[in-house]
Amino acid sequence: MLPRRKGGEEPVRVEPELEQTQTYSLRTPTGITGLDRIIDGGLIRGKTYLVAGETGTGKTIFSLRFILKGIEIGEPCVYVPFDETIEGTVEGALTLGWDLETPMRKNMLRILDARPFFAEVVREKFMAEVVREIVKELKRHVTEIGAKRLVIDPVAPLIGEVVDVSWTRDFIRGFVTAVEKFLGCTTIITSEVPTGSGLLSRFGVEEFLASGIIKLAIVSIENRNLRTLTVRKLRWTRVDLTPYVYEIKPLEGIVLLEPLHEYVKKLKE
Ligand SMILES: Nc1ncnc2c1ncn2[C@@H]1O[C@H](COP(=O)(O)OP(=O)(O)O)[C@@H](O)[C@H]1O
Ligand SMILES: [Mg+2]
Repeated sequence: MLPRRKGGEEPVRVEPELEQTQTYSLRTPTGITGLDRIIDGGLIRGKTYLVAGETGTGKTIFSLRFILKGIEIGEPCVYVPFDETIEGTVEGALTLGWDLETPMRKNMLRILDARPFFAEVVREKFMAEVVREIVKELKRHVTEIGAKRLVIDPVAPLIGEVVDVSWTRDFIRGFVTAVEKFLGCTTIITSEVPTGSGLLSRFGVEEFLASGIIKLAIVSIENRNLRTLTVRKLRWTRVDLTPYVYEIKPLEGIVLLEPLHEYVKKLKE
């Protein structure tokens, strides 16, 4: 934490060791190979982060890796997949060598099939009430297993068919704010941006609500499609805006290689 500063005064100097310990305890690692190193050790606990990208860029794999790291370090997780069933998620994870069933049995992980519940509340109620009910339901699960991490993957279809974009924006604004305020988890929301749009989020509000944005993309260079990860924004963290090339591999999931420009230079050699 930064030392308090009264108007006009110089910042208070802190012993380097002390500063480092404090910074570290504020953060929790993502588990993504190579990522924590470039974001000062991880994400700030209790904050909400957006992982944005087109379909197939690796948002779900990113989310699951974040969850598995949580389980590994004793932080129980709640995962809410919106374009996959619980069984589908468990089976898909197995293709990467990830066992989700054991942590589920041990109450370290809870996967919620929230779609029917959300569809119902949305049909019948006003928005503020919808937000309240959804957050209440999430809170119940978070409390039951003492979750420290939460993933909503992706945040948009939560409201079923999108008929009214401004309603949706208000909903996402209310929902994300309430999640951060009432659930106290380090939260990842994913957002699926339309292919080729170059947007940071689907509804244009998610990026303003998040404490950080990680953008996943597929770029075409030298006749090759490369996966890239860019840290677009990260509050209270030194940000290196360089896109990094990454691969998707069994067990590790997402593995950051090197900065795109260095990777491309090597390709040309
Ligand atoms: N078992 C696997 N091994 C290697 N790559 C995989 C595996 N499973 C999925 N992938 C890669 O990950 C991509 C999908 O990642 P996913 O996280 O589901 O994307 P998103 O959630 O952004 O749509 C696939 O298109 C494929 O290239
Ligand atoms: Mg996905």
